[in-house]
Amino acid sequence: MMDIDRRKNEHIFLASSPESQIGSNLLEEVILIHRALPEIDLEDVDATATFLGRRIRMPFIIGAMTGGTELAERINTRLAKAAEAFGVPMYVGSQRIGIVKPETRRSFEVVKEHAPNAPKIANLGAPQISRLSEDEVIEWAKQAVDMINASAIAIHLNPAQEVFQPGGEPYFKGVVERLKALKRALGLPLIVKEVGNGISKEIAEALNGIADVIDVAGFGGTSFVAIEGARAKSVDVELYELAEEFKYWGIPTAAAICEVKSAFGGLIIASGGIRSGLDGAKAMALGADYFSASQPLLKAALEGDVLKALGRIEKELKIAMFLTGSRDIKALRSTPKVLGPRLESWIRQRGLSC
Ligand SMILES: Cc1cc2nc3c(=O)[nH]c(=O)nc-3n(C[C@H](O)[C@H](O)[C@H](O)COP(=O)(O)O)c2cc1C
Repeated sequence: MMDIDRRKNEHIFLASSPESQIGSNLLEEVILIHRALPEIDLEDVDATATFLGRRIRMPFIIGAMTGGTELAERINTRLAKAAEAFGVPMYVGSQRIGIVKPETRRSFEVVKEHAPNAPKIANLGAPQISRLSEDEVIEWAKQAVDMINASAIAIHLNPAQEVFQPGGEPYFKGVVERLKALKRALGLPLIVKEVGNGISKEIAEALNGIADVIDVAGFGGTSFVAIEGARAKSVDVELYELAEEFKYWGIPTAAAICEVKSAFGGLIIASGGIRSGLDGAKAMALGADYFSASQPLLKAALEGDVLKALGRIEKELKIAMFLTGSRDIKALRSTPKVLGPRLESWIRQRGLSC
């Protein structure tokens, strides 16, 4: 178990360094059309949204990151206080450690203490649910939900991470059946997310009727292939080299939004390299319902100023809304845009509508 502790802290330190940020999410290929006559005042812009029936200050969700160690507890405390004060939802990181090692639960429970009103999203991984019986999966999910008083549960799909993680668990057999069982038994919205390699239309199609929400978690931001490769370097040189070879693997976030939008009937969260409210506005214009970021908020939490980071994202989002003449989020989602050649070609080759 010391290993899990060390891994969690290494993830935090490696993820906050520039080497973990790989490639492009192709959002630079989305140009929102400037509107010289917005016909509204900047102060008229309303960026509020609803999430699972609750009013939130902007369609932004603090990404899934951590839990299980003392450092993770401090980070979760800061993220939770900011989520509550600002009025946005938050995910927590994988709660497996809180279930198999109950003495670490506090690092998750601080989230419900400090964010009693903000919507909270529980988190477990596909490899774990693959290896549990249906009854155990439901039991784990209930524990995860109770631990933070969650209003939804997210299951993360991370096959690439598991391949390159020293001692990883690339177990994905039976995951769809487990997801169905969870959906039936839990009575809570089910979110299915990646962790930075993106979700395709084929997977989105298969998740219709199972997942309520897909978080695309596309390529072009934090790379767990790079992070696990860096961790492997001193223990398994071949694994490090393999990770280097696959460092650019994945569906860029902008493309992943179009993939999922073309096949999925539920709600879409855009994430993966979203670094500003302007990136968020572009993701919304492509068809996302919400956007989310992890690494920038991790850095803000380590430096202690999460509220400032959220305030900045809101300002950028509102400026983008004003300059496109979008009075509210609904208008932003249909604002005119032009797509660059790589994204346009992706959309054409894959027969997507975006
Ligand atoms: C330190 C760290 C730990 C993470 N741990 C988890 C996790 O336990 N569960 C999960 O679903 N995603 C996890 N993620 C992935 C993020 O939720 C997100 O999908 C990914 O970082 C891409 O977003 P970004 O480019 O904004 O960082 C983690 C991310 C970071 C930075």
